[in-house]
Amino acid sequence: MCGIVGYVGTKQAAPFLIEGLTKLEYRGYDSAGIAVFDGETINVEKTVGRLAALKEKLEGHVPVGCVGIGHTRWATHGRPSDRNSHPHTDCSGDFVVVHNGIIENYMSLKEQLIKKGHEFKSETDTEVIAHLLEELYTGDFEAAVREVLKRIDGSYSLVFMSKNDPDKLICTKKDNPLVIGLGDGENFIASDIPAIIARTRKTYIINDGEVAVVKKDSIWITNREGQPVTKKIFEVNWNAEAAEKGGYEHFMLKEIHEQPKAVRETMSARVAKDHSAIIMEELKWNKEYLDSFQKIFVVACGTAYNAALVGKYYIEKLVRIPVEVDIASEFRYRSPIIDDRTLTIVVSQSGETSDTLAALKESKRLGAKTLAITNVVGSSIAREADQVIYTWAGPEIAVASTKAYTTQLITMFMLAMYMAGIKGTVTPERTKELLTQLHQIPAQISETLEDVEPIKTFAKEYGFNEDVFFIGRSLDYAVALEGSLKLKEISYIHAEAYAAGELKHGTLALIIEGVPVIALATQKNVYEKTLSNIKEVKARDAVVIGIASANDSELEKYVDHVIKVPETDELLIPILTVVPLQLLAYYAAITRQCDVDKPRNLAKSVTVE
Ligand code: F6R
Repeated sequence: MCGIVGYVGTKQAAPFLIEGLTKLEYRGYDSAGIAVFDGETINVEKTVGRLAALKEKLEGHVPVGCVGIGHTRWATHGRPSDRNSHPHTDCSGDFVVVHNGIIENYMSLKEQLIKKGHEFKSETDTEVIAHLLEELYTGDFEAAVREVLKRIDGSYSLVFMSKNDPDKLICTKKDNPLVIGLGDGENFIASDIPAIIARTRKTYIINDGEVAVVKKDSIWITNREGQPVTKKIFEVNWNAEAAEKGGYEHFMLKEIHEQPKAVRETMSARVAKDHSAIIMEELKWNKEYLDSFQKIFVVACGTAYNAALVGKYYIEKLVRIPVEVDIASEFRYRSPIIDDRTLTIVVSQSGETSDTLAALKESKRLGAKTLAITNVVGSSIAREADQVIYTWAGPEIAVASTKAYTTQLITMFMLAMYMAGIKGTVTPERTKELLTQLHQIPAQISETLEDVEPIKTFAKEYGFNEDVFFIGRSLDYAVALEGSLKLKEISYIHAEAYAAGELKHGTLALIIEGVPVIALATQKNVYEKTLSNIKEVKARDAVVIGIASANDSELEKYVDHVIKVPETDELLIPILTVVPLQLLAYYAAITRQCDVDKPRNLAKSVTVE
C-alpha cells in the first residue's frame, strides 16, 4: 500500500509531485514526501501525517528542480514517523527510492549491509533498497537497479533516482500497480491513473518485471531479461472530472450518486436488446465447459466478499452449481479442495488486493479455471486470471466502496444469467422477465437516491448510538452484512449483521431498550419468519427501522420507521436496498463528524497480507 509518483521534464517537478500525491492519498496517508534534484544534490522533504502536513512544511521553500519523485505512505514496516517516511536514501544521499509494497527478505539484506558498514536511518524495508543500490553501483545506474531486483523478494512498485544520472528515473514493478504518463518534453510516473490524467491521457501500463528508464524525451522499457518491450499506448478515456469530487462534499457521496451510471455502464452491451439473454463477449463459454465444473469458489475480501455472498445465491438459485464463498485471506491457508473441475471466481474492485491475488494464484496452482471480476483494467488480478469481466464503475476514490459493490452485484447477476442461458436452467419467459427488471435498475437506484431526507433524520437521531444491529434472511442477510460494514468503517459505530433467525441463539441478549435494529424484509419465502424476528427485537424495546419493497404494506405495522425501495424482483432488490444503507452510513458519519473519505486505519487498496 502507498502511492508513488515521479516527474522528469523541463518544468518544476514539485508541483506535479504534490498534485499527483493528492490524487493518490486514497492509497495511504500516514506520511508523505518528495525528493527533487536541484542540479547539485537531491533534496528530500518528508513528514509524518497527511499530505497537508507536507504542503505546510514546504511553504516558502519548495524544492527546486525538474526531476523528482514522491510518496504517500500506509505504514507496514515501521510505524508512521518522519524518519520512516519515503523517499529513502542511501548513506551518501546519492540514491533515492520510493516504494509501494513489502520487501520480504529485507531483514537478512539489512544485516548483510550493516556488516558492510551501511548505517540505517529508518525501520522500513524500503531503505534497504537504497543502500543495496549504493552497494551494487559500479557506474551503470540501470545495471545496478537490475542487480537490486535480483536480490529482493516480495511485492513492489519502485521509482529510483540517482545523483549521478540526474536526467532519468528508473521504475519497475512486481504485484503492485505502476503507470507511466507520456507528456511533451516531460514524462510522469504514478501508481494510478488519477495522478496523471490532468497532465496527459497517454499512458503505458507497466507489467510485472518490466523496467522503464524514463527521461524527459524518451521512455525505454525492457523486460526482466533486459530485452526491449514494445508497449501499446493506453489512452485514458475518463474525463478529468471523473477522478474529482464533482461538486459533492465527499467522494463517497459522489460515488453513491454515480451508481445509476456505473450500473448502466456495467450492463451496457451485455444485456440483449430484446432482454432475451446476457451476452458475455469476454467469456465465450459453452455447455461442455460449464458442465465440467462440479464446484465454484467465489473468493474476495471486505465489500467484495459481501458481493460474493450475493453471487453464491444467484449462481446456486439460477444455475444449480454448488458455490462456496471464501474470505481470501482464509482460503489460501486452509487447503481448499480444488482441481480442474473447479471454477474460482475472484472479486476485487482494485484488482490489487494482495489476499485476493494470492488466493487466485493458489487456485491456479491447484488446477482450477479462474475468472476475475474487477474494476481496474490491467490490474494485477485482471492479468493473473484466465478470464476477466470488468465492472465499469469508473475510478472509486472513497475508501468505503459503494459503486463498486453495486456493479459487482450486477455483474454477478449477469454472470449467473449468462451461465443459466447456456445450461438452460432458467426458462426463456423467466429470463425475459428478469432482464426486463434488470434494465430498470439504474432508474430505480436514482429514485431511491431521491428519498434521502428520512435517512438524514435517522442518522441525526441515531448517529450517536454506540451499537447498531442489522438483520435479514437469505439475500437480505447478505445486504445486512454490507450495511453493517459501511456503518462501521466510516462512522466507527459498532455494527453487527445477523441472519435474523440466528438472533435467538445468543445475540438477542444484546438487544435492550433503544438499540437501533435495521431489519431488511424483502424476500418472500422468509418474510413471515423475518417478521417474527422483528417482533422478537421489538419485544425487547429495540428501535426498528425496516427496509422493504414499495409494495409492502405490512412491515410498517411492526416497526418504528420504514424505508421503501422501488418494486423489483426479489433477486434484484439487494441492488436497491443497499443504497439507503450506504446513505445511512454516510450521514451517520457526517453526524459524528468523521472523515468520510479517509476513515481511520484504512486504505483503499490493500496490497499487503
Ligand atoms: C469496504 C471496502 C473494502 C474492500 C476490500 C477489498 O468499503 O472497500 O472492504 O472491499 O478491501 O478490496 P478490493 O475490492 O479492491 O479487492
